[in-house]
Amino acid sequence: MSKKIVIDPITRIEGHLRVEVELDKENVVKDAFVSGQLFRGIEVILKNRDPRDAGLLAGRICGVCTNSHFRAAVSCVEDAYSLEVPKNAEIIRDLMAMALFIQDHVVHFYHLHSLDFVDVVSALSADPHLTSKEAHNYSKKPFRNSHSHYESVMTKLQTFVDAGKLGPFSNGYWGHSEYKLSPEQNLILISHYLEALKFQTNISKAVAIFGGKTPHPQSIVVGGVTSVADMLNPQRLNDYLFIIKEAKDFIDRAYLPDMKLLSTAYRSEIKEGQGRANGNFICVGGYEFDGLTPLFSAGIIRDHNFSNIEVFDESKITEEVDRAWYDGDDHKVHYTDLNDDGTLKTEKNSDKYSWIKAPRYGGETMETGPVARVLVSYLSENNLINPFVDEFLSDTNLDLKDFSTSIGRNAARAIESSYVCEYIFKLVSNLIQNIKYYDTETWCKFDFEEMPKNTKGRVFLEVPRGILSHFVNIEDQKISNFSVIAPTTWNATPRNFDAKRGAYEEALVGIKVSDPTKPLEVLKVIHSFDPCLACAVHVIDTQGKELSKYRVKAF
Ligand code: NI
Repeated sequence: MSKKIVIDPITRIEGHLRVEVELDKENVVKDAFVSGQLFRGIEVILKNRDPRDAGLLAGRICGVCTNSHFRAAVSCVEDAYSLEVPKNAEIIRDLMAMALFIQDHVVHFYHLHSLDFVDVVSALSADPHLTSKEAHNYSKKPFRNSHSHYESVMTKLQTFVDAGKLGPFSNGYWGHSEYKLSPEQNLILISHYLEALKFQTNISKAVAIFGGKTPHPQSIVVGGVTSVADMLNPQRLNDYLFIIKEAKDFIDRAYLPDMKLLSTAYRSEIKEGQGRANGNFICVGGYEFDGLTPLFSAGIIRDHNFSNIEVFDESKITEEVDRAWYDGDDHKVHYTDLNDDGTLKTEKNSDKYSWIKAPRYGGETMETGPVARVLVSYLSENNLINPFVDEFLSDTNLDLKDFSTSIGRNAARAIESSYVCEYIFKLVSNLIQNIKYYDTETWCKFDFEEMPKNTKGRVFLEVPRGILSHFVNIEDQKISNFSVIAPTTWNATPRNFDAKRGAYEEALVGIKVSDPTKPLEVLKVIHSFDPCLACAVHVIDTQGKELSKYRVKAF
């Protein structure tokens, strides 16, 4: 008889995600359903607003991805008005976006995901001298690698344990048989976990230097940016660069080596393809500047076929709601109850089970995010990325397909973080060059009254978790419709009438759960996608009518 495990909510992610998996006799996952349990309605708030306010309102879609939605909404309105934004403004927007890539990736790995691989309690029995030696297997110059530093980390941990308060480390499955690291390797990762807390504070300042503040930066406006004084102040540029240099130091000496360590210790997991989805990848590319290779190349990969990178065609994107809690062409809310035992109604093809809609590319479910970017860019011979990927693969003796796993997703993020830093250095020198030649423009002047009264715009951006697209319709100079497809909408999509599983569901099928009461393997797969549910769930009612009433059963 099959068993069902329900995890609701999955923690250490942004927002509310529910996962149900069905296990066979051998505890292998036979089927999986993921459900966005968080209802959002920001698009409704955007209706009838001045298009120039879209950025500040859309930024509130998420508390993590604030800058991504802020920028996307402003760019979307600029697209509707065919405005050409000055180069300097685009550079400043990119500098903010790239600092966010680094921030998101480091925080995701250490604070949201690493404890799926790291047994905190085991680190207490490490030998600090051996730990220092072990770190040299993955880096020529390991980050904070003295044995006295490791001793102080152990003392800190022991204090937590003695007080019976594990704080951020409580509720882990410590001692689980799936933890494969030695006490010394666990101690290295815990040391970096603590260092990453400081990293998080510093890198946020980098976004705030040009954004005025973060989260929810203020400086992007339709037509450009307002941070002209920051751009012209050499001290501000220096502060920004100093933070990025420090960040790169941590990435190259801690984050990337940790990925090499995990790739070695969990090699069998990678080679078994744990966490692999269906091998369809989508990347819209972007971040392109004068004389520089774009940071990411655009393209489509199907079924892990690396010899054929298809051209990305936005007209192939559709969004369906057959099995999401919406109805009809205008996607009105239609919440259906859960079963009486509190499980999702997933038995029949017509059962609705998520607030997340179902985006498809040419009818197929796709994976978006760091692996898609790394694979598509690498295979498009992006000369910036390729050396980073080659070095990682040669150091770990892995191949390209290995990125398409849970650990591979993390490795792709670390590689991406390192080359994003390199690109930032180039962008800043590009900006300084412009200023030197008296190009200080940061805003294109336009007369709002002269803009088309009825128009529409759209934008596709790569943001840390994958593709973010915003669409706006403007009627009589007011927003009449606003729509968002976020990265997590692609990856956490429910099935559709086509019954095709999305990346999360597909990645879960086939994994073996060694202890169904502690489903660490399930958490590992889901966390590897860095879910952001606040971003994923969106509703629009094109008629502007009351959004239907719904009721949630309490169990
Ligand atoms: Ni988000």
